[in-house]
Amino acid sequence: MPTIESILKETRIFSPAKEFSSKANIPSFEAYQALCAEAEDDNLSFWAKRAQEQIAWHKPFTQVLNDRMAPFFQWFSDGELNVSYNCLDRHLETQADKVAIIFESDDGEIIRSTYHDLHQRVCKLANALKSQNINKGDRVVIYMPMRIEAVVAMQACARIGAIHSVVFGGFSAKSLHERIQDAGAVAVITADEQVRGGKRNPLKLIVDEALSKADTAFVRLVVVYQRTGADIRFDPARDVWWHEFTENAGLQCEPEWVGAEHPLFTLYTSGSTGKPKGVQHSSAGYLLGTKESMQWIFDYKPADVFWCTADVGWITGHSYVAYGPLAMGATQVIFEGIPTYPNAGRFWEIIQKHKVTTFYTAPTAIRSLIKLGADLPEQYELSSLRLLGSVGEPINPEAWMWFYEKVGRSRCPIVDTWWQTETGSHMIAPAPGAIALKPGSCTFPLPGISAAIVDEAGHDVENGKGGFLVIKKPFPSQIRTLWGDSERFKEAYFSKDIGCGKYYVSGDSAYRDIEGYFWIMGRTDDVLNVSGHRLGTMEIESALVAHPSVAEAAVVGKPHEIKGEAVIAFVVLKGQYPHAEEITQITHTLREWVAKEIGPIAKPDEIRFGENLPKTRSGKIMRRLLRSLAKGEEITQDVSTLENPAILEQLKYPEK
Ligand code: WT7
Repeated sequence: MPTIESILKETRIFSPAKEFSSKANIPSFEAYQALCAEAEDDNLSFWAKRAQEQIAWHKPFTQVLNDRMAPFFQWFSDGELNVSYNCLDRHLETQADKVAIIFESDDGEIIRSTYHDLHQRVCKLANALKSQNINKGDRVVIYMPMRIEAVVAMQACARIGAIHSVVFGGFSAKSLHERIQDAGAVAVITADEQVRGGKRNPLKLIVDEALSKADTAFVRLVVVYQRTGADIRFDPARDVWWHEFTENAGLQCEPEWVGAEHPLFTLYTSGSTGKPKGVQHSSAGYLLGTKESMQWIFDYKPADVFWCTADVGWITGHSYVAYGPLAMGATQVIFEGIPTYPNAGRFWEIIQKHKVTTFYTAPTAIRSLIKLGADLPEQYELSSLRLLGSVGEPINPEAWMWFYEKVGRSRCPIVDTWWQTETGSHMIAPAPGAIALKPGSCTFPLPGISAAIVDEAGHDVENGKGGFLVIKKPFPSQIRTLWGDSERFKEAYFSKDIGCGKYYVSGDSAYRDIEGYFWIMGRTDDVLNVSGHRLGTMEIESALVAHPSVAEAAVVGKPHEIKGEAVIAFVVLKGQYPHAEEITQITHTLREWVAKEIGPIAKPDEIRFGENLPKTRSGKIMRRLLRSLAKGEEITQDVSTLENPAILEQLKYPEK
């Protein structure tokens, strides 16, 4: 995480090039300021005007914002629309034959799907789902590889008004079960297997395991896309093959017109308790946020070839794969594999081959590619690129400079985009034709987004001081509630502890420099950011203590060169402190256990065993101390309140 000192040392600044600005959607700092002023002046008219321009309404709205039930805000609530109509049908008259998706599989096969083709695929699946009585408001869990079919599944749900909940293919059967259960899903859409980096992941087998308990009996349909032809177990009462299921379905499917506030999807994310939160998004407000950011931040142009490398299992893959680019009528690349297979030049090869203009990826991918071949991009023709983007965690200035020079050849602005699952679309990010960039800063809020840094009382802190990052005014793409838990929604995001519950509290701390640039410093809660994935420490702790040999566990993060943060677990075993020879075995067992309980992404990088954990006399685990121990720092903090100071010695050194 950047410190205030490191931020202060960053003095490089990159002004937008004239060629870029002159064609940009927001062509100057003054133009950006004018938009901000317009929003400041009359926030509701600002958003109303954009909602009218950007969205094809079936029934126009008359009310812009309803805040009577704050913080349960409603936007454009008496309007009616269909998001899939906005992403597909809308383009059929003007550009049916434009390629919507250039798909490249793990093993290099390329499939192009036009708007016409995509529309037909979506209609067929939507009709097939309707024939099975899956209707508006029903929940559908999607557990799919990164392929055209994943987008088709999401769009088909949107078309019929079903609420999708995509679960990332790296989550375990147990995590999948928990999400299916919480959502009360009636159907699951999956594939026989997923293929990434030449390795197969048996998605259908995992779905079978997730559905093996009676408490998911409400799932009456499992649609299986055949990816590899692997032998799978088939339950004829419940399972159907995608190709058979859609074979005779009609090519036209009248969209289900829904209210603006109808939930488009829920997406589970980690918070500071053990249970994942089902973030619920709206239809119209969400769509508006993705469209505006496509234009303001990605400076979208019809000739662009857009490529966001995120998996549809995360919010980035929702907003900037499944919805935003399609809503704009863009051509985008979807890639099934990983950046390092068959070699570390795969990303650069794809950019070269498909003439990608806009490339959006994560700092962790950038760092790992630097390590595997810092000079590799030079071997590729990357002149099609005009804009680069970064998301998921703070990008360290060295990685920023490498991205800028080696990939963008010092010609392409980098948009460092700060946002969250809960905000639905970009919140703080540079309009690339308008704002001078500083490596490591996400710069300024989007027009209409009232981001601020405040102290506990909710007062703005002065530039140069760190504080809580909040958003003061409601905005269209914001989270509506947590699925089935509106109390937790209020506590988590409109906490009385910060600003008396008046503001959306992001959970991040941040700092503004002397010129007002925003710098994100990290989370203020017990949430880790590992390779751009959000992980709750409590979730990993409860997974660990669920193992029969674990008495107690505490999990903290530690800075990691590639992943951003690494997961360090401190574990107290039941019975004896393990012998040196036993430690390797039990470490392996517990890592695999966490992979089974949550998913491989949550595996602790390091496990340290102790006879106890450092606690205060009242029994509270002192995580601050654990964080210092994890980093290998000398303990300089006051340990006089510690019940058992001797424990620190034992936990100090990582066990081999
Ligand atoms: C958390 C949200 C938003 C899509 C991907 C992650 C961190 C995200 C940045 C950035 C610094 C960032 C924050 C945030 N984060 N983007 N550009 N600079 N930090 O979504 O899983 O909901 O995680 O990711 O800590 O709160 P998410």
